[in-house]
Amino acid sequence: MDLRHSFVEGMARAATFVSVITTDGPGGQHGVTVSSMTSVSADGEAPSLLVCIHHKSPAAAAILRNRSFCANLLNAGQQSCADIFSGREKTEGSRFDRVDWQPGAGGLPVLIGAAASFDCMLKTEMLWETHHVMIGQVTAVRLSDKPDALLYGQRGYRRAVGIG
Ligand SMILES: Cc1cc2nc3c(=O)[nH]c(=O)nc-3n(C[C@H](O)[C@H](O)[C@H](O)COP(=O)(O)O)c2cc1C
Repeated sequence: MDLRHSFVEGMARAATFVSVITTDGPGGQHGVTVSSMTSVSADGEAPSLLVCIHHKSPAAAAILRNRSFCANLLNAGQQSCADIFSGREKTEGSRFDRVDWQPGAGGLPVLIGAAASFDCMLKTEMLWETHHVMIGQVTAVRLSDKPDALLYGQRGYRRAVGIG
C-alpha cells in the first residue's frame, strides 16, 4: 500500500461527526458537508472552531468572500442532508430547496434539527496544499432538542452507542 492509500485507509477507521458548513452574503449562498469541523478553543476571547474545505468547493470561495459561516453539526437522522450537501444526492437547483432551514440572527442558513449550529466569523485562513484551513470565532450557538450527532466512519454513516 502506498503512503497516500494507507493514510486514507487509516483515516477511514476514525469515526468523525458530520457537519454542513453554510454561508450567505455577497459571495453567495452555499453549503458543503464536512467531517473536518473541530473545536479549537472554548477559552479564548471567544470560542473558536476550524474547518478544512477543498479549494475547488464553491463553498470555500463563498466563505472567503462572506467572511462568515455557520457550522451545523448534523443529528443522527440527517443523513440525507449530508448526502445533499456532499453532492452524493444530485439536486436540480439549490441544495437549500431540499432541506429545512432558516436564516439565523446574522442571516446565515441554519439547518433545522441540527444537533447544534455555530455561527462564526472567519478570523483566519490558510491554504494548505488542496484545502483551506479556516478558523472561525463563534458568535452564537443554537442547541436543538436532538443531541445525537451523525457519525461517519469505515465509509458509512453511524451513530454513537455507549459501551459502559
Ligand atoms: C461524510 C463526508 C465528509 C466530508 N468531509 C469533507 C471535508 O472535511 N472537507 C471537504 O472539503 N470536503 C468534504 N467532503 C466532500 C464534500 O462534501 C463534497 O463532496 C466535495 O467537496 C465536493 O463539493 P461540492 O459538490 O460542493 O463542489 C465530505 C463528504 C462526506 C460525504
